[in-house]
Amino acid sequence: MTSIPFNETSLNNAQLSEPVISLLPLGDYDKHRAAFMAKMPNNSIALFPAANELTRSNDTEYAFCQNKNFFYLTGFNEPDALLVLLKNEQGSTESILFSLPKDPLHEIWQGRRVGQLKAVQDYGVDKSFEVAEIDNLLSDYLNGKSQVFFGFSDHSFAVQVFTWLKQVKSSIRQGAKAPQQLNDADPILAELRLIKTDNELALMRQANHISGLAHQRAMQNCFVGKFEYQVEADILHEFALHGARHPAYASIVAGGDNANILHYTANSDVLKDNELLLIDAGAELAGYAADITRTFPVNGKYTQEQKAIYQLVLDAKNLAINAIKPGMCFAKLNVLTNAFLTQGLVDLGIFQGDLTKLISDKKIKEYFIHGLGHWLGLDVHDVGDYNINSNREQLRAFEQGMVMTIEPGIYIPLTDLSVDAKWRGIGVRIEDNIAVTETGFENFSVNSPQTIEDIEALMKET
Ligand code: GLY
Ligand code: MN
Ligand code: MN
Repeated sequence: MTSIPFNETSLNNAQLSEPVISLLPLGDYDKHRAAFMAKMPNNSIALFPAANELTRSNDTEYAFCQNKNFFYLTGFNEPDALLVLLKNEQGSTESILFSLPKDPLHEIWQGRRVGQLKAVQDYGVDKSFEVAEIDNLLSDYLNGKSQVFFGFSDHSFAVQVFTWLKQVKSSIRQGAKAPQQLNDADPILAELRLIKTDNELALMRQANHISGLAHQRAMQNCFVGKFEYQVEADILHEFALHGARHPAYASIVAGGDNANILHYTANSDVLKDNELLLIDAGAELAGYAADITRTFPVNGKYTQEQKAIYQLVLDAKNLAINAIKPGMCFAKLNVLTNAFLTQGLVDLGIFQGDLTKLISDKKIKEYFIHGLGHWLGLDVHDVGDYNINSNREQLRAFEQGMVMTIEPGIYIPLTDLSVDAKWRGIGVRIEDNIAVTETGFENFSVNSPQTIEDIEALMKET
């Protein structure tokens, strides 16, 4: 397979010619726990549940996806576990993992388990017990603590915490003392997760590289008459070949007017001559997401109108990316990009009227109907505050180690009778993944072809 030149300094390409399964070094999860515990006051406890298996139908389950906060703190990828973090009155800390026991019969059917011994040896927790011990031990851990931390967004776990608290309170005549202050752990974890370490950045770079190989393959193997789901199959195959067994989100493979449905995942239509194909697909690697969109002509050659819209979106994307550095924020990037896209649509005759007024009326939002970007990490729409003010502007200053998407788009549905018929049915989004560096940015998505020349050349080769 031909591959687009890739920045050799940012990743060892040779290593990627073989399938790789990557993980953060397990010691990194110790550091994540230590960072969380540093935020806990003395005499407090924090509780983090793993995800449960989810039934797909009858006795089959969806592919397991670990709770991302739990994963960030443990690297542990089994269901039905619980992490307990303790900080005593003197400020010393302890981590305890409750997990499923080793069970030869169960493991023959369902797969290997880590067990309690290896949880301590390999995952670095101080103690590990079987999940069956939770109800016995949790009352003891809670008793006498003044504050409890857990994620408020998980309603059923909150109910569970209240059950344990009630258990402690029921022993009040025996001298038990239940914590009185409940704290939401989510915002603390969100802030920690928002700033990526070098090892996290390396994984995200790798997830992007794998995703880029899939986008290249989709372009090379595209032809009129192919079905969207067949392109999706190419993409998923390429992800898995390189160790990314799952996409970070349901892949969007949208031919023609389907691109104007933002979260189109039916992927069921046939690809037609003279139409564009929008692919929004990213691999998940060791829990970390890539989120990349490319839009290219099904037959390998952009029409004049497609070219005009595509180039405008591409230039807007690059304008935004080139402005990224510490101190910049989404609000400023939005102003820049919206003005640029508005001017572009005026130049193409799609907008008429006074440019300043079109910009202040936010007219572009009729065609650029979603946000410019979002945080990216363990979740595709990753956690982290955007510091949104009363005008819904995202004012948070970028810092080194943040990763975000930049994804402008222009969507002109077939049903839009307000524009000349030649523009209708064109939907373009281009999405890259960007890390903020000390002085600027690093674009992780450089091996996903994006210029008209590169895309047409790549598609012509095959
Ligand atoms: N793939 C979802 C998004 O771009 O936000
Ligand atoms: Mn995105
Ligand atoms: Mn996307």
